[in-house]
Parts: sequence; C-alpha cells; structure tokens
Amino acid sequence: MAGVHLIAAVGLSGQIGLDGEVPWHGRPEFAEHTARDLAEFARLTAGGVLIMGSVTAAKLPPTFRPKDRSIVVWRRHYDPEDVIRHYRKQDRDVWVCGGQKVYETLIPYVDWHHISVIPYDGPADRFLPPILPHWSAA
Ligand SMILES: NC(=O)c1ccc[n+]([C@@H]2O[C@H](COP(=O)([O-])OP(=O)(O)OC[C@H]3O[C@@H](n4cnc5c(N)ncnc54)[C@H](OP(=O)(O)O)[C@@H]3O)[C@@H](O)[C@H]2O)c1
Repeated sequence: MAGVHLIAAVGLSGQIGLDGEVPWHGRPEFAEHTARDLAEFARLTAGGVLIMGSVTAAKLPPTFRPKDRSIVVWRRHYDPEDVIRHYRKQDRDVWVCGGQKVYETLIPYVDWHHISVIPYDGPADRFLPPILPHWSAA
C-alpha cells in the first residue's frame, strides 16, 4: 500500500542545511556517505511524488528529475491535508524531501521515516524538527 514517507539525511544534532546546501557539502570525509545516500534516494523515490521546498527544488540536480517521478514544489499557502489526500487517493508513494518548513508542515501526515545519519557535528542553519512527540528539538 502506498503511503507518505519522510526522507532526510541528518547530522548528529539533526542538522540538515547550511547556507543553502547540506552542511557536509564538499567535505571529502563525508563523500562516501553522500554518494550512498543519493543512490538510495534515487532508488527509493522512483515512481513516487516528491514534495520539496522551493530552495531545495532549485538545487535538485537534473539526474534527480527523471520522468518516473513527480516533483511538487511546496508553497506556503498549500493546505497540507488537501495535498496529502489528493495523492493518497492516487495510491502513489509520497516522499517529503524537506527543507525544514516542509518537514515541519508535513510531519503529522508521515507514515514512515527514512533517516540517514551523517557523522557530522558542525554548524547548521536548518534542522530536522522533532519527529516523535517525545523527541526534543536539536
Ligand atoms: N539534509 C537533507 O536531507 C535536506 C533535505 C532538503 C533540504 N536540505 C537543506 O535545507 C535547506 C533548504 O531548505 P529551506 O528550509 O531553506 O528551504 P525549502 O524548504 O527548500 O524552501 C522553503 C519552503 O518553505 C515554504 N514555507 C515558508 N514558510 C512557510 C510556512 N509558514 N508554512 C508552510 N510552508 C512555508 C516555502 O514556500 P513559499 O515558496 O510559498 O515561500 C518554500 O517552499 C538547504 O540548506 C538544503 O541543502 C537538506
């Protein structure tokens, strides 16, 4: 059965972004993790609907825009309930791809989490919000 998935790569304190990139962008020590995550992202999301924020979408490499998946660029005036209901009716997997505000808005609708932890412990300006009610903010 299709469902709503959250997919994210996070640092050790929930970091997801810094200056418009992932915080470990360009750091050779994380290159292997990054390559593995991108390959997994491509494999998992094939055929699905990818919901992502406008900043994230603008940076999406062309190789992640294959014709077998739809990309929905999130806008703040969208009603999350309507959007999720629409795609659930189509019985398609929905992938919530970030950034921070998109995760915050759609977390209540997520069935499954696919989180890859990167052993990065540095600064960030975007974080994955707490996913489970008992998690505290980073
Ligand atoms: N590590 C990861 O897995 C991961 C995944 C994704 C992104 N990132 C990182 O995160 C950063 C980009 O994320 P971002 O958070 O800056 O931007 P973003 O999520 O790509 O774009 C911001 C989005 O939030 C929407 N928004 C703004 N205010 C809102 C509100 N009050 N309610 C609902 N939606 C609202 C905007 O809609 P409008 O267009 O209508 O303003 C826009 O679509 C980059 O550093 C990127 O590398 C990391």
